[in-house]
Amino acid sequence: MRGKKVVILTGAGISAESGVRTFRDNDGLWENHRIEDVATPEAWRADPQLVWKFYQARRRQMNEVEPNPAHEALAKLESEIEDFTLITQNVDDLHERGGSNSVIHMHGRLQTLRCETSKQIETRMSDSDLTDDYVYCNCCAEPSRMRPDIVWFGEMPMHMEEIYSAGESCDVFIVVGSSGHVYPAAGMVHVARSIGAHTILVNYEMPANGEDFDEVHLGKAGEILPELVEKWLAE
Ligand code: APR
Repeated sequence: MRGKKVVILTGAGISAESGVRTFRDNDGLWENHRIEDVATPEAWRADPQLVWKFYQARRRQMNEVEPNPAHEALAKLESEIEDFTLITQNVDDLHERGGSNSVIHMHGRLQTLRCETSKQIETRMSDSDLTDDYVYCNCCAEPSRMRPDIVWFGEMPMHMEEIYSAGESCDVFIVVGSSGHVYPAAGMVHVARSIGAHTILVNYEMPANGEDFDEVHLGKAGEILPELVEKWLAE
């Protein structure tokens, strides 16, 4: 794999062994909520308190979890492959804490909040930012309420130009821990395949789009990815 252009796309499965729940492994419920009740602009308009409390709990939880060997293995790959792009659907910061230097968060991030008026983002992770009270911005003359800096269902993912351009020019495309249900992320493998890239999947179980991969490795990412990375670096 050395000398090749490598693009990685990660999903909730890579953070599972750190203790962060995935979205679709628990009877369709995410931390006891239906996704549409907490992760849509409509939910935020209809019941901002519920949505806010839900994301504040996710933000507090992020401070309590640690990266696992799968995050660390990808950081190692990044340090040894010259042309390397890491794209994640995850909103946690475990890739960064696991040692990755450059991470594209296509579905937003938990540690930042977005002003509802100006749309400016601020990193807001101090203790007073993590209670169940709303957080107000520092950018407006009359401070505005901030919303989670998260891409909800029905909203446009971030950095898509950069993401497509990476996918359209890679030699190897690797997906780790994603169910392949949510587009456009799930369609990236088609982009990579269409230009002849070798496609690899590392996932606990065969996902919806499993057939789209040239190589499939089933198991826990924290257990199998470190070995795979050693093998890829030796190739
Ligand atoms: N190692 C590898 N894969 C795992 C592990 C593990 N330890 N544990 C679970 N998985 C797999 C599951 O089998 C599942 O296929 O990870 C996948 C997680 O799928 P989802 O929960 O659907 O997560 P993801 O694909 O990231 O969801 C995409 O949906 O709700 C939205 O915006 C949210 O970014 C999220 C998007």
